[in-house]
Amino acid sequence: MMDRQASYLREMGLVRWRFGSGGNGLSEPEPGSPESGAQDRGGDETPGLLSLAEKARHCERCELHRTRGKVVFGSGSPGARWFFVGEAPGAEEDKQGVPFVGRAGALLHAMLLGIGLSRESVYIANVLKCRPPNNRDPFGLEVQECSPFLHAQIELIQPQIIVAMGRFAAQALLNSAESLGQLRGKAHQYRLNQLPLVVTYHPAYLLRSPAAKGKTWEDLVLAQSLLT
Ligand code: URA
Repeated sequence: MMDRQASYLREMGLVRWRFGSGGNGLSEPEPGSPESGAQDRGGDETPGLLSLAEKARHCERCELHRTRGKVVFGSGSPGARWFFVGEAPGAEEDKQGVPFVGRAGALLHAMLLGIGLSRESVYIANVLKCRPPNNRDPFGLEVQECSPFLHAQIELIQPQIIVAMGRFAAQALLNSAESLGQLRGKAHQYRLNQLPLVVTYHPAYLLRSPAAKGKTWEDLVLAQSLLT
């Protein structure tokens, strides 16, 4: 009988992969175990995150506040080792106020489970905290005005690895104008603090182009290998 992990991987369109040569590295972690991606740091960061979230909820730094439903600040563990960054909320996220709860979110969830991470153990946020009307691409000014929230989230959470999903996340975090193709497939450093960052495809792109799932998996394996 196919085990649960194999079925997550199958949902991603993948056969079973292994990290390195030892252990399969793919088993679903016990909540709170080191492999779960979360560290117990006593939740000291939580008040900082809460007050940042409160600021975001009242933010009027760009025009998106006029059309948004809910501000989508981010979700997950304040002690997360893994920090995943997407582009901007879609319609469902705008309704619920939670990132990646639509179809792209279901695929992201499967990807996380495939590498042995639960959604609750990682942290997930977007470059933009408010939905662009009709899911249009973010404008440069919106990215500029909103990115300080993302940088502050990273500072507060202090993850051990950042995974930038899609061009907007990669370019905003790396302050780069290079294409996704140029940025993915290698280890980057986020700012000057030696925090490793890996660029991969956005789950919404993977829904349209399932052939890219294998490369995404390679990116996640790379990210895993950079964890200390
Ligand atoms: N796409 C994103 O980039 N973020 C979400 O939260 C949902 C879809």
